[in-house]
Amino acid sequence: MKKYAQIVGWGMYAPQRILTNHDLEKMVDTSDEWIRRRVGIGERHICAPGEATASMATRAARAALEVADLSPSKLDLIIVATVTPDYQFPSAASIVQDALGASHAAAFDLNAGCAGFVYGLYVALGMIGAELYRNVMVIGSDTLSRITDFQDRSTAVLFGDGAGAVLLTATDQPTGVLSCVLGSDGSGAEALLVPAGGSRHPATVETVQNRQHFIRMNGAEVYRFAVKAMADGARQVVQMAGLQIEDIKLVIPHQANIRIMEAAAKALKLRPDQLYCNVERYGNTSAATIPIALCEALAEGRIKPGDYLLLVGFGAGLTWAAAVVQWGAPVGAASTPWWRSVLHDLRGREAAVRSLTLRTRRRLDSLRGADGRAD
Ligand code: ACO
Repeated sequence: MKKYAQIVGWGMYAPQRILTNHDLEKMVDTSDEWIRRRVGIGERHICAPGEATASMATRAARAALEVADLSPSKLDLIIVATVTPDYQFPSAASIVQDALGASHAAAFDLNAGCAGFVYGLYVALGMIGAELYRNVMVIGSDTLSRITDFQDRSTAVLFGDGAGAVLLTATDQPTGVLSCVLGSDGSGAEALLVPAGGSRHPATVETVQNRQHFIRMNGAEVYRFAVKAMADGARQVVQMAGLQIEDIKLVIPHQANIRIMEAAAKALKLRPDQLYCNVERYGNTSAATIPIALCEALAEGRIKPGDYLLLVGFGAGLTWAAAVVQWGAPVGAASTPWWRSVLHDLRGREAAVRSLTLRTRRRLDSLRGADGRAD
């Protein structure tokens, strides 16, 4: 029997520290009025020292496991969509796997810019549909504040940090992720990139002095691309699902700029109630915007079982991705009793003990190995 991938758990995390437009006014030549009018952002969350992509991703994933009431040991695969992994390697996903105590899970990062989360959904659908895996965690997590040039007003005002996660599980019911389209146009790669720090231009004193480890963006080019890619991708994926745009209860687009979302909504002739926007409170958190928006839409009661959702993103690459999801899981506070939090908190502690035990054993093994060689 054909397997479908249904979202059964979801969670998000945004760092506590908030950077407002008024804070930015003190850092670069900008104004709250300009940022709100041109981009639609009022504030964004910024990681504290010690926080990064994997730690945010872990918190979002833990919340998703709690909603689904699934033990981390039942996870088969963890995908972290990100452009800001903690390290060049290992992957952020491997760090998350250890932190969750997901002892049987494979883990890898996926870089498709801000379209990465929807790319991850498609990979999960493929793995589940092929009956290779049963429970797949897809996380979008990005710490753009660490690659944002806070001396460049054209980009400093746009970005924030955060993470969102969904847990997909195999089902025989024809629901969950119904259709997906992914795309890439690498001829636009230079419109949005971090020039140095990779294998082409490794970090040197000069690249650091030239601020080449920060985001460089041709905003107007990305803007033009985004509106067309979102509208075309949305039409295509809705048709693939055998639906009309009017059938979609909620469109959750990548939250980069309110004007891009409104222009795409106009091209698609959406009703105002069909478009979900929360860019005002988070800014552009890259791969995390769509799952964070999904979590907030659920919390606000805007999604009910049976509803069709359209998730659509675009980003560095240039890439785009769209998916139609039929919501299947129950929503609402009644589905998460208090004891579940206690149980999952205990599982978090168990994961920390497991990690410490494995690290200690590895250290002892290496000490014994060194002694052996000395003999
Ligand atoms: N405050 C005040 N003025 C500013 C600011 C600012 N923060 N930034 C730019 N300006 C000025 C410019 O210098 C320019 O001044 P000038 O006319 O004297 O030269 C003027 O405002 C207009 O600049 P534009 O670049 O034309 O402004 P625009 O309306 O196009 O908005 C923006 C710029 C917001 C970047 C827009 O182009 C945009 O949203 N582009 C897409 C961004 C995006 O989606 N990026 C995704 C990246 S995410 C990822 O994949 C990691």
